[in-house]
Amino acid sequence: MADSRKLHLGAFMRPVSIHTGAWRYPGAYPDANFNFGHLKRFARRLEEAKFDAFFMADHLAVLNMPVEALKRSHTVTSFEPFTLLSALAAVTEKIGLIATASTTFDEPFHIARRFASLDHLSGGRAGWNIVTTANPDAALNFGYESQMDHDARYVRAREFYDVVTGLWDSFADDAFLRDVESGIFFDPDKLHVLDHKGPSLSVRGPLNIARPVQGWPVIVQAGASEPGRQLAAETAEVIFGAESTLAAGQRFYADVKGRMKRIGRNPDHLKILPAAFVVVGETVEEARAKRAHLDSLVHYDSGIHSLNGMLGYDVSGFDPDGPLPEIPETNASKSARERIIEAARSKNLTIRQLAEKAGSYSGLAFVGTPATIADEMAEWLHGEGSDGFNMMFPYLPEGLDDFVDKVVPELQRRGLFRTEYEGETLRDHLGLPRPENRFFAERAEAAE
Ligand SMILES: Cc1cc2nc3c(=O)[nH]c(=O)nc-3n(C[C@H](O)[C@H](O)[C@H](O)COP(=O)(O)O)c2cc1C
Repeated sequence: MADSRKLHLGAFMRPVSIHTGAWRYPGAYPDANFNFGHLKRFARRLEEAKFDAFFMADHLAVLNMPVEALKRSHTVTSFEPFTLLSALAAVTEKIGLIATASTTFDEPFHIARRFASLDHLSGGRAGWNIVTTANPDAALNFGYESQMDHDARYVRAREFYDVVTGLWDSFADDAFLRDVESGIFFDPDKLHVLDHKGPSLSVRGPLNIARPVQGWPVIVQAGASEPGRQLAAETAEVIFGAESTLAAGQRFYADVKGRMKRIGRNPDHLKILPAAFVVVGETVEEARAKRAHLDSLVHYDSGIHSLNGMLGYDVSGFDPDGPLPEIPETNASKSARERIIEAARSKNLTIRQLAEKAGSYSGLAFVGTPATIADEMAEWLHGEGSDGFNMMFPYLPEGLDDFVDKVVPELQRRGLFRTEYEGETLRDHLGLPRPENRFFAERAEAAE
């Protein structure tokens, strides 16, 4: 039987491209991080291409690397996501708007309000990328002397999710009567006071915002460690994966969807979208040459410190042309560290080669023609490696325009991607159900 499923596509904007060399690429907009005109153009082009979402990554400190490397990076600074996405909501109509927000350094009441506001402002297009914040320097910006332990961050994240979703359910969807005649603005029987008191959080509620258009903004997650996967299986509706081969993608997909089945969740209610870097050429050789040129724009001082960041361990004192030493367990992001160590061991790479890889982009990459890229994307979709991708453009605007003008039409021609939006909200684009209000749905059942 033919597989009629379609790809879901997000655009990863951190802040513009993830690649350290991107701002030096010919034709790039080096000031795009703070140039709203450019960001508006990117969002509109993505909407023209019928992307599911514009995804804004976020960090709560400048990247933790020495100034020698930092001074070369355009990712050192970016807009605060809610401010940017609120502005983009006003100049777009359909595309989903996903903001990253941290459960370690924020408060659930703040997060619930901001996302509810963005969802109302955008007519139901908001999504929350839940992160636990891996960068240890963030702690120093919030009054702490050190980073909370990895597993403890995830324990807090799970409780945080319950509180935020509970706050979104403060008012029933039909709570606001606005009855001019009687003078009753809302029905107090349709207001729930959360009164949450848990191990990490204490929040009375209710939220002082009407229930979001989507019920709850779409829940997105990107953690890939054991507790990250479990949190995703229990809560996520979209995962930004980081698997770099189809086989690894298939293992991840089967693992997380299997966990969902075990806890009674419908696996179709989660879309797994691995991050995919994409370089388009007229020929495969041209695409490879573009990528090689881009990679050559990353200085060794940047590469070595990206590598240290991924490892959570400083290897700059070791021989650059020697092998990677034993790397001890650290409190940094586990999945990134394991991936790079695996690459080092399986391909016998030297520290210099690893630095080049880390500084450029070491994850899944589609480098080829529109046809070869569409082939690879279809293989992932049909092979249950993913439900789509979170696209990373190598340089802007050209990399984004190439994808929109050349690859999207090829995907559409093959029936792999929508030609029109079929609904209004981000949940509609992703084929996700609108969650029931946990307090008022229960009451309706109890009354039967
Ligand atoms: C595509 C993608 C986007 C991410 N965006 C962010 C981000 O914007 N901010 C952040 O703090 N972490 C971000 N992360 C990191 C994850 O939240 C997570 O910390 C990391 O994948 C390691 O997972 P682990 O903490 O479960 O080991 C992202 C990860 C991926 C794969």
